[in-house]
Amino acid sequence: MSIANTSSDIVIFGAMGDLAQRKLIPSLFQLESAGFLGQDSRIIGVARHEEDTNSFSDICKESLARFVKPEELEPEALNRFLDKVEYCSVNFTEAESYQDLKATLDTSAERARIFYYATPASIYGSISKNLTKCGCINTNSCVVLEKPIGHNLQSSNEVNDQVAEYFDETQIYRIDHYLGKETVQNLIALRFANPLFGSQWNQSHISHVEITVAEKVGIEGRWGYFDKAGQMRDMVQNHLLQLLCLTAMDPPDDLSADMIRNEKVKVLKALRPITSEMCTTHVVRGRYTKGMLEGTPVPGYMEEEGANPDSNTETFVAIKAEINNWRWAGVPFYLRTGKRMPEKLSQITIHFKPQPHFIFDENQRHLAQNKLIIRLQPEEGISLQILNKDQGLGKGMRLRSEPLKLNFSQAFEQKRIPDAYERLLLEVIQGNQYLFVRRDEVEHAWTWCDQLMEHWASDTKPPLPYAAGSWGPKASDLMLIKDGNSWHEDQ
Ligand code: BG6
Repeated sequence: MSIANTSSDIVIFGAMGDLAQRKLIPSLFQLESAGFLGQDSRIIGVARHEEDTNSFSDICKESLARFVKPEELEPEALNRFLDKVEYCSVNFTEAESYQDLKATLDTSAERARIFYYATPASIYGSISKNLTKCGCINTNSCVVLEKPIGHNLQSSNEVNDQVAEYFDETQIYRIDHYLGKETVQNLIALRFANPLFGSQWNQSHISHVEITVAEKVGIEGRWGYFDKAGQMRDMVQNHLLQLLCLTAMDPPDDLSADMIRNEKVKVLKALRPITSEMCTTHVVRGRYTKGMLEGTPVPGYMEEEGANPDSNTETFVAIKAEINNWRWAGVPFYLRTGKRMPEKLSQITIHFKPQPHFIFDENQRHLAQNKLIIRLQPEEGISLQILNKDQGLGKGMRLRSEPLKLNFSQAFEQKRIPDAYERLLLEVIQGNQYLFVRRDEVEHAWTWCDQLMEHWASDTKPPLPYAAGSWGPKASDLMLIKDGNSWHEDQ
């Protein structure tokens, strides 16, 4: 059966919100445009607002004009898409108000019903209960949960328990949008399809790994949310740990969702817990002060709109993580993420060990290393730093380190790399869970982060300052220097 023949009702709770209008509606449009939405699929926006289908359709049209490039907004696809859009006004916490939604849903028992919760996690339980109570769930229903689910293990368990009362784990798709990025998925191909890397991917050949997710943006008017979360909950607990899992996991037996997720869970379970003593040697916590970004002055975190002078929240985290297993014993995984960094950059750098005996000029010993740089964004691609003889007469056996580069958009002549949400929505429509986070992954990730954040909670010292537009506090560089290493961009 072709995908375009598989029709579904895609119901978005929180349809007027930023996520829905900025990401979900544009992604669904792109899927329609590429022929991935079944002919009689529908996108049913649900919110409290007293809108109707016409006015909601106008709102979606405006969002598409803002968030989709004009050359991609092909009129015929736009009309087809808008024909699929419907709207239902629902008070999420009142069961009676779901009747209109029930009447709008297609009555076929087999037709897929996808309920996307783009709302605060605190009401995931009520929505699940009310959908079930009002008979909106058929045999082919599933729910998509947005992060953040809770702010620690306990609160995340509460939300997951509430949803689990009504839905089986096989019906639950927990989003971590990093897993939908083309380049993140390519990690699986790179690692497990290439014999060259398969044999080298362990502590015998790799000295250390860096995972950097740097953002240029600050908190973008989200003080209320961000100050409660901080960079640890906002980025490390989910995106960075997922990248770490995909980089470090053992080969799954096959590509099924459970096999992949089983391997990721093993990595999370093997993470060395960070004790309070290790907080000074293995962790750096920072907060941006005012500075310059691309020649423009920007305010510090404490000067952002809505700032609370008592805040002790971090906007930067660097961690030296260690994985206690055979494959990775003794290999540090340096994780780093921050807001207001000099550039938007997500990249994984694998540093291979040098040759056991160096026969070239001693002064060039520092060059004698291969590095594999996996660029997740921007300019998605892979580059392998290799050593060559410098060309030309009179150069002797001088070495030069040069990259072998693969730029994805050039190599695959792609006009555009699909947004992570497009991929993830398509996987939900197709019923594939491998790009979604299983409950035990969430639990182990929280367990590791919680113990670290508990040490922070008993520490009254503010996070270390770093100027907006810099790569974070000096202590983050020193953490690596003590191990004889340095962040990739410092080399
Ligand atoms: C989100 C965080 O999950 O990821 C944001 O809540 C962050 O704070 C965003 O800016 C980064 O995503 P991307 O895809 O732009 O790297």
